[in-house]
Amino acid sequence: MSSVVISDTEYRLLRDLIRERFGINYDDGKQFLLQSRLQTRLIKTRTADFMAYYRYLLSDLQRDAEWDELASVLSNNETYFFRERSQLDVLAQEVVSEALQGAGPLRIWSAACSTGEEPYSVAMTLLDGHRIAPAAARIKAGDLSPRAVEKCAAGFYRELSFRATPPEVIGRYFKPFEGGFFITDEVKRMVEFSRINLLDERTYAAVGPQDVVFCRNVLIYFDKATQKRVVESFARVLRPGGFLFLGHAESIIRLTGLYEPFVTAKAVYYRRRDDAHH
Ligand SMILES: C[S@@+](CC[C@H](N)C(=O)[O-])C[C@H]1O[C@@H](n2cnc3c(N)ncnc32)[C@H](O)[C@@H]1O
Repeated sequence: MSSVVISDTEYRLLRDLIRERFGINYDDGKQFLLQSRLQTRLIKTRTADFMAYYRYLLSDLQRDAEWDELASVLSNNETYFFRERSQLDVLAQEVVSEALQGAGPLRIWSAACSTGEEPYSVAMTLLDGHRIAPAAARIKAGDLSPRAVEKCAAGFYRELSFRATPPEVIGRYFKPFEGGFFITDEVKRMVEFSRINLLDERTYAAVGPQDVVFCRNVLIYFDKATQKRVVESFARVLRPGGFLFLGHAESIIRLTGLYEPFVTAKAVYYRRRDDAHH
């Protein structure tokens, strides 16, 4: 079974199906990568070859459960606490100052949160500034991968997640346990997790209006048309002037006019234009 090879036709069919559903884009050089990722699913589903697996995804009664499994297998969950910290500094300084002038809680969405390090870093940043009480912030976080979302909820992390975390922050917000650390309940309570798909329009209705969206290191997996579609969907949930943070390798300047880019010495971020029509 493990020696089944994906043909060019099977590769194109499966790649297109996956891109349509999840946005994750496998280009021409990624045939072997997709083959090895799907191989485990062929074994688990007792499917003879990739064409049969393609049909399974389209029409088997268990297909929804299989798509969930696939979401976990196909996603790259690389992340760590306080990644691109300069953007969190912008959050602590500029966004919080503005929010304090407004009414209501500060609404932040971590749109592809992987195993939770990003939204928990946002929560710790707000707590550390001591300017926002936990109840004055609503942090939502979601990811495509069911396995990643389970890890968010468990709140248990090992060494690699802490590669950019100052020791005093670990001391303040984590409790050691059997070779790793649990995040404290104080931080955990600030974040609400869910399973989402950024390509599913219902996601945006469910998440509701936001002041800030983090969508970092996700667009790199999408083609340009999907990147545009997703950032335009963010503009529908962001209030005018709302902040969008992307990964440092992701630029949307040539993709859409809905955002004004801000390039400072420390960080790059975007703000939804007042007149953004969508
Ligand atoms: C490399 S991680 C980035 C995590 C975090 N934002 C960061 O910058 O450290 C990329 C995440 O995007 C998620 N993802 C990929 N396609 C998605 C989609 N269509 N909807 C929601 N999340 C998606 C993956 O499951 C994965 O956890």
